[in-house]
Amino acid sequence: MARVAVVTGGSRGIGAAISKALKAAGCEVAATYGGNDEAAAAFTKETGIKTYKWSVGDYDACKEGIAQIESDLGPVDILVNNAGITRDAPFHKMTPQQWHEVIDTNLTGVFNMTHNVWPGMRERKFGRIVTISSINGQKGQFAQANYAASKAGDIGFTKSLAQEGARAGITVNVVAPGYVGTDMVMAVPEKVRESIIGQIPVGRLGEPEEIARCVAFLTADDAGFITGSTITANGGQYFT
Ligand code: CAA
Repeated sequence: MARVAVVTGGSRGIGAAISKALKAAGCEVAATYGGNDEAAAAFTKETGIKTYKWSVGDYDACKEGIAQIESDLGPVDILVNNAGITRDAPFHKMTPQQWHEVIDTNLTGVFNMTHNVWPGMRERKFGRIVTISSINGQKGQFAQANYAASKAGDIGFTKSLAQEGARAGITVNVVAPGYVGTDMVMAVPEKVRESIIGQIPVGRLGEPEEIARCVAFLTADDAGFITGSTITANGGQYFT
């Protein structure tokens, strides 16, 4: 039977590429999104992949949303925590709101989603969880104390859960992309972006599909010996 995969933030950017890659790998995919109805409708029209709207920062919404997906498609075998936001500002200008919004989505959202699929995965003795971190969670980034903290937190979360899931057939891994040509990176001021590209040894931004390929690799049935790992895909910009 086809594996059921949930991809948060799965209708745009890297998430859309992941949703498509998992569908191509034979999964039944549900893509969640937080706000952009138009993009979600266009994505479903293009791919046939169903979309579901809720905020990953809201625990009860995650619980209800996952129950709905399970009633539509069946028990969740694969969770990809991809939804993420930036609220960049130098620390002396960063507001508590900018801090909390980013932590609530990028880190607490990962807890909220994972906590609601975990019991079922434990019961069925199978699960694949992949969280999309970032190069900036590994190296830090000027104006991203909030984002870098959330993305580094995702790595610690993963290494802990990998130990807890191992005996239950659940693998828990991270993919840490570098700068990829998505709306998030295109929102960085052009001059800054050009200087970032200059720091990438392969000489270009990544493609969403290059990140999706890592996720498809980690979520395959035969990837059961890989857990607690971080796959870094950043064009050589930073080595851990
Ligand atoms: N290192 C050191 N100094 C830097 C710097 C850097 N990387 N970037 C900016 N500065 C300096 C500026 O030169 C400026 O200095 P001066 O005051 O001496 O001229 C100062 O810091 C910036 O001050 P501003 O008052 O102009 O800052 P601002 O409040 O307008 O904020 C900014 C501007 C938000 C920092 C903007 O430059 C920006 O967005 N930078 C990009 C940050 C970034 O890389 N974000 C990553 C987004 S992509 C992503 O997150 C995806 C992923 O996972 C990879």
